Amino acid sequence: MFLDGNFCLKIVTLCAISGTLKLLHVAESTSQTTTVSTSTSQDQVPQRIYGLLDKLSCGRKLNASAKFALLLAEFLIKQKMRYVAPTRYERQLFYHLLHRMDHLLKNSSLENISQLEKQILENALKHNVLLLPPTLKYGTLNANADYEQLAMNYEVLVNRGQPNRTQSDLCMREIVNLNPRNCKLSLDCLNVMTSEAIAYGYQRTHQVLLLYMLAHHKCASKLSPPQLYEELAKSHCNDILSEQNAIRSLALGLGKYKDLYLEQATICGLFGYNEFLNWRNVMEIDSWFHDDPNNEHINDLALVFYINALLMLH
Ligand SMILES: *[C@@H]1O[C@H](CO)[C@@H](O)[C@H](O)[C@H]1NC(C)=O
Ligand SMILES: *[C@@H]1O[C@H](CO)[C@@H](O)[C@H](O)[C@H]1NC(C)=O
Ligand SMILES: *[C@@H]1O[C@H](CO)[C@@H](O)[C@H](O)[C@H]1NC(C)=O
Ligand SMILES: *[C@@H]1O[C@H](CO)[C@@H](O)[C@H](O)[C@H]1NC(C)=O
Repeated sequence: MFLDGNFCLKIVTLCAISGTLKLLHVAESTSQTTTVSTSTSQDQVPQRIYGLLDKLSCGRKLNASAKFALLLAEFLIKQKMRYVAPTRYERQLFYHLLHRMDHLLKNSSLENISQLEKQILENALKHNVLLLPPTLKYGTLNANADYEQLAMNYEVLVNRGQPNRTQSDLCMREIVNLNPRNCKLSLDCLNVMTSEAIAYGYQRTHQVLLLYMLAHHKCASKLSPPQLYEELAKSHCNDILSEQNAIRSLALGLGKYKDLYLEQATICGLFGYNEFLNWRNVMEIDSWFHDDPNNEHINDLALVFYINALLMLH
């Protein structure tokens, strides 16, 4: 055990060093075009991503959440490249990241994974995918909604609402396995996604993730007009923004709800809302890795969040 750990640590250090050297080299050759004020943070994002991939390569098998994060991260890069021609530096970086993630997906065994999760992961973002132009949306959400009341009761409220994990996985399996010939989705699953009944925490974020997955399936436009996905995501993410404000306002909020906070930022960030996908959150999340380096679910989420930040924040 200990030997493994040490060995891993050395590899990670080596990777980190060679990664940094490469990045420094690239930074030198592009320094004329990079503005001083943001260059530090922009360089940090690829380094963080390499650091997270190193952690995934080392020391553990992939479970469902790690594998889903890798699939989503790959998808985001490919989608972006399909719509926006990358610079030479970006192309090199993106291909290198894709190569590493592909290797991780192929060259790791899945650990402790349920049949349901397996049926999701075998198909998610692989068949009948609909690419959409990624955009960063400014000022779409209502940043000034009241959250004091929510903050006072958050500990109780955070577990309220639907879907629970099982309902969410069942609906996810339906979505990723939709047949484009008939696009038949159960009423249950539609209700799960579209319900505006009171829900908080992971229940609410799962609704948004399901919407995202459906919006990127070829069946999306057959099931409803594209604006509807946008409207629903906006409505859910408005609620989630109040939750983030509440968490931030609590004395121990970001100690206690880090995982949830990152899940909220990551998932509403997928829809491009700048209220979630911004440099302030990049820095905030970055700071966690100094004191809490080995929470695996946080690492999985952070991979997706950072990849999206790399692609969308310039
Ligand atoms: C995967 O593992 C992490 C860390 O052990 C855990 O937090 C997470 O819930 C697991 N995910 C699934 C889907 O089992
Ligand atoms: C992953 O790749 C390494 C070498 O790159 C190899 O030694 C190992 O057996 C592979 N593992 C799996 C599960 O394929
Ligand atoms: C495997 O998953 C089950 C249920 O998801 C959980 O109770 C159990 O602790 C997990 N085992 C390991 C080794 O993670
Ligand atoms: C999830 O919700 C469904 C529907 O309300 C319920 O039947 C099921 O028991 C719940 N499962 C868990 C694990 O809470």
